[in-house]
Amino acid sequence: MQNTTYKQDIEITKCENSKINEIDFDNLAFGSVFSDHMLVCDYKDGAWEAPKVVPYQNINLAPSAKILHYGQSVFEGMKAYKDANNETFLFRPLDNCKRLNISAKRLAIPEVPENYFMEGLKALLEVDDQWIPSAEQGSLYIRPFIFASGEGFHASPANNYKFIIATAPSGPYFSGKVSVLIEQTYSRSANGGVGYAKAGGNYAGQFYPTQLAIEKGYNQVIWTDDSTHEFIEEAGAMNIFIRIKDTLITAPTSDRILDGITRKSIIEIAKAEGINVEVRPLSVHEVVEAAKNGDLMEMFGSGTAAVISPIASFGYKDNDYDLPQLENSYASLLKKRITDIQYNRAEDSFGWRVKI
Ligand code: PLP
Ligand code: COI
Repeated sequence: MQNTTYKQDIEITKCENSKINEIDFDNLAFGSVFSDHMLVCDYKDGAWEAPKVVPYQNINLAPSAKILHYGQSVFEGMKAYKDANNETFLFRPLDNCKRLNISAKRLAIPEVPENYFMEGLKALLEVDDQWIPSAEQGSLYIRPFIFASGEGFHASPANNYKFIIATAPSGPYFSGKVSVLIEQTYSRSANGGVGYAKAGGNYAGQFYPTQLAIEKGYNQVIWTDDSTHEFIEEAGAMNIFIRIKDTLITAPTSDRILDGITRKSIIEIAKAEGINVEVRPLSVHEVVEAAKNGDLMEMFGSGTAAVISPIASFGYKDNDYDLPQLENSYASLLKKRITDIQYNRAEDSFGWRVKI
């Protein structure tokens, strides 16, 4: 990582006309309206220039920019939360910064200095403070990303990059019941690949298999391992947890699985709640057998965007299996615990919450 000590003020250019009055904060969808400002930081001549806050605007790109040809881009997903006193909080933000750089390294993208990320984000959130929804309305989804803006048709890393943070006041990611299809043909990742990175192309590669699942009446795909399709790995753009009897099981992270910040937080919260957690490979066979004999209690996806999203049913080969509707599910307990920390409604004994 570039070792820049960053002390000077961040240059801020404010927009002339705010769009905030056009936004219905009581009916927010996910990630579809964008706040007035963004953070921009350019990489030129082998170094990151100082980040700036500027009005949210289109990006000027050459047709030969390498992002357009070779998909050299990585991104993050995080949220800012407001408490009842209008104070703003982030959840484990340094973990997002570190993961952005893990992803960047894998895509041969220069790593962003941590202080540019953290100080730049704080400056942006201060400027767009009014854009952070209340707890009842949702949260501010934060999208840091880096892409190759440098030109050239040669299939090699670009010389120039842009690091941008854009934000979107957002409501829930899913509405209604989530049904998933256990994937038997396509894969999102493979050993030695980029599955553990948040590389833009990972998501593009998911769209077609997900479209096929949607045509069959499901909302999402459960990704299985690429070599046998026998082990459960992730659920769409979420990690997955499965409760069999009273044990909560999730797959170990690997080359193929994103090290989700929500996932690792849930593991710790569940353990603190006295729930038996197993991090181990989980076969489709074990899940189907548990569904057949009544031991399968819950399945849920976890992620920043989706928080904890309970799965109502799953399809495997030609059969569908419904999950029981539990009064006191682990999903609802864990969702309450994690969102209480995020929105500053409860003590944070883990030290995850960061006040802005
Ligand atoms: N898995 C994938 C593939 C994702 O894109 C995400 C979203 O970021 C997650 C899991 C959940 O990760 P996190 O909890 O850090 O948001
Ligand atoms: C997130 O949960 O923040 C993600 O990045 C998932 C995204 C693809 C919507």
